[in-house]
Amino acid sequence: MKMKKIFPDDFMWGVATSSYQIEGAAFEDGKGLSVWDTFSHEHGRIKNNENGDITCDHYHLWKNDIEILNDLGVQAYRLSVSWPRINPTGFDKMPNKKGLDFYDRLVDNLLEKDIIPFITLFHWDLPQELEDKGGWTVRDITDAFVQYVDMISRYLGDRVKHWITHNEPWCVSYLGYINGQFPPGIKDSWSKSFATVHHLLLSHGMAIPVIRSNSKDSHIGISLNLNHSIPASSSVHDKEACHKYDGRFNRLFLDPLYKKQYPEDIMDGFIEEGLLNPQDLEIIQDGDLELISTNTDFLGINYYSRGIIRNSKISEEDNLPVEIIQGEKTEYGWEIHPESLYDLLMRVKSDYKVGNIYITENGCSYSCAPDSSGKINDEKRIHFHKIHIQELQRAVKDGISCKGYFAWSLMDNFEWAEGFSQRFGLVWVDFNTLDRIPKESYYWYKNFIEQNGNDE
Ligand code: FCB
Repeated sequence: MKMKKIFPDDFMWGVATSSYQIEGAAFEDGKGLSVWDTFSHEHGRIKNNENGDITCDHYHLWKNDIEILNDLGVQAYRLSVSWPRINPTGFDKMPNKKGLDFYDRLVDNLLEKDIIPFITLFHWDLPQELEDKGGWTVRDITDAFVQYVDMISRYLGDRVKHWITHNEPWCVSYLGYINGQFPPGIKDSWSKSFATVHHLLLSHGMAIPVIRSNSKDSHIGISLNLNHSIPASSSVHDKEACHKYDGRFNRLFLDPLYKKQYPEDIMDGFIEEGLLNPQDLEIIQDGDLELISTNTDFLGINYYSRGIIRNSKISEEDNLPVEIIQGEKTEYGWEIHPESLYDLLMRVKSDYKVGNIYITENGCSYSCAPDSSGKINDEKRIHFHKIHIQELQRAVKDGISCKGYFAWSLMDNFEWAEGFSQRFGLVWVDFNTLDRIPKESYYWYKNFIEQNGNDE
């Protein structure tokens, strides 16, 4: 399919990373411990017991990495700030100067190369000392977050104009407290999971005016991992299961942000199923939803796959046969389904009247390594990005105001509980030598950016 140039001239093509996944230098220059430093050192938490102590060593190799970004030609770079580098315990009254300096240099060097920094304030590396006091399950953490946001936005706000408060609150609340794959590794605690949802969203709302006052004319949003879900068959059972799944995955975040309320059916369901007690909802205080639904400038969407939902509560014999079969998957096991990106974008516009959108993550994991000539032929990654961008293009034609697209990720990195086993980068990283080698997808993206989305 020939791609016509329909992206506006100010459309931002970018790449994304996050602090714990690439920085390394976990114990340097006054940085405090984060929950990921602790969790990754607990035996059995991470595949092959790997950790992010060094990972891509971006903390030392940042200059080289900015050269790569510059050569790639991206207009924007989404990075996250490590909270414990700025406020080591989470309770310090003064910021850690060396931490501030690191991001200061980074931002200045990016701007020198005309690369717009997009800063995510919380991409999961919470100071361990805050976790020890209950982390996101206790309300006081919202003040600690705002204090940290004030420290960093005061320092960088004159130059950084694009801010993302939180990355994927679903992961923090669900993977941290229901399936235990993420810190603090707790299972089946719906009350803690919901408290985490609420305090993450509340802190997002509380941080917005602080960022606005420290960073004039800034653009502020939150990044959600949204998942377009469809029932596995046309049975009422699957439809119901799908509605519930969508509620717990998408509406639980979108409704408070855009409709000033938690989805009633989902909250009632939590109580009816005995997952929450009515007292668990007392954490929602007067005025909280006002704050949570504070106007933002954009919604960040991280899109990887769709959900095909089967009702697991009834037996297979009582259900209709599955009608929707999963298509091809990436090496992570995530189904490749670009059309669902289109559906998702249309849905957030029609159901939530969302204005500006950025695709703040989209990408795929393939392990392809350098061949004997040193070339890394990751055709499947090129194809993945192309077909997703085509769907994005279709959505833009149909009225979606998308301002930018960030490929996940600039380079291979520490993929959380999967350690180094999943490679999402456009650039290969040899984790022994720390060498970076651009993959074929890198060259494709570079050319694509030069043409501003005109792939011919
Ligand atoms: C997202 C995360 C990001 C990365 C990708 C693969 O959920 O935000 O850090 O791990 O998945």
